[in-house]
Amino acid sequence: MGRMLACANQKGGVGKTTTVVNLAAYLAGDGRRVLVVDLDPQGNATSGLGAGRAAAGASVYDALMGGVELGALIVPTETPGLSLVPSSIALAGAEVELAGVQQRERRLNRVIAAIQPDWDVVFIDCPPSLGLLTVNALTAADAVLIPMQCEYYALEGLSQLIATVHLVRDHLNPALAVQGVVLTMFDARTNLSAEVAAEVREHLGAAVFQAVVPRSVRLAEAPSHGRPIAAYAPESRGAIAYRALATELWGRLEHDAERADGERNEVAVPPGSPATPATPSTPDRSFALAVPQPPNRVVSGAGVPGGPA
Ligand SMILES: Nc1ncnc2c1ncn2[C@@H]1O[C@H](COP(=O)(O)OP(=O)(O)OP(=O)(O)O)[C@@H](O)[C@H]1O
Ligand SMILES: [Mg+2]
Repeated sequence: MGRMLACANQKGGVGKTTTVVNLAAYLAGDGRRVLVVDLDPQGNATSGLGAGRAAAGASVYDALMGGVELGALIVPTETPGLSLVPSSIALAGAEVELAGVQQRERRLNRVIAAIQPDWDVVFIDCPPSLGLLTVNALTAADAVLIPMQCEYYALEGLSQLIATVHLVRDHLNPALAVQGVVLTMFDARTNLSAEVAAEVREHLGAAVFQAVVPRSVRLAEAPSHGRPIAAYAPESRGAIAYRALATELWGRLEHDAERADGERNEVAVPPGSPATPATPSTPDRSFALAVPQPPNRVVSGAGVPGGPA
């Protein structure tokens, strides 16, 4: 069915890369053809997939700016079925260099369209900003996946991200959907995590994945070994969570594909037959996010080390 997912949140360190690397590895382990495009100059997905050294040469930058075919930049990873378009430090200049370029928001879309049919899922790992690289990712993608840390002010900044999604929908990519919100770094020892998770679910409803990623030392260690958690510590809690999240994500992707098929069939009804009401092509959960609520309910600090009792 071929879905392209941009993993985005302008907040830094919320688990974008960890989510991309580990979902990609589990889906590949299930036999899906999975590609990770590392669109972050930091190159964390590249090194997290063990491709740090190989990436010293060509990178996604060469496709965006240098006219190199994206397909020529794909490298295999240690995980069968999982390939990577690496990042490089050259990408750090891309935001500035793109600024003066025609159709600058569509550069990635133009180079990635040719290879999308070869993959079941393409993940684009975005940098922590809403700059041109992230806008390129949102313009190319079918949907956005939003990791959110179970921390104080979790919802802060979400409205800005959603506003950007709406701008991209209005001007660049009308079909852009919200695939869902992933709760990350859940700490079962604090009430705060549980309160934030409840708060986010209350605001965002079905957009939030059921599977919650716990804070796990194993997840933090895995990138330094250049391996997804599925290979590094498959029995760990973090592994179990990403395993479940991958299954849930695949279920959503299949559901969305069936839904899209249904819509196509409705459109194909011959003239003269009773009119069917138009159905939106974006999944329902997008609408849960359509009117982002400000984080006006303040969660208590109970359970936070050093916070109020
Ligand atoms: N569930 C987790 N438990 C513990 N540590 C985690 C977890 N998820 C991510 N980390 C660690 O937290 C840090 C930030 O995670 P990650 O790099 O995935 O976030 P990011 O949103 O991609 O960051 P950036 O905005 O810099 O790209 C990393 O050191 C990572 O190993
Ligand atoms: Mg990252």
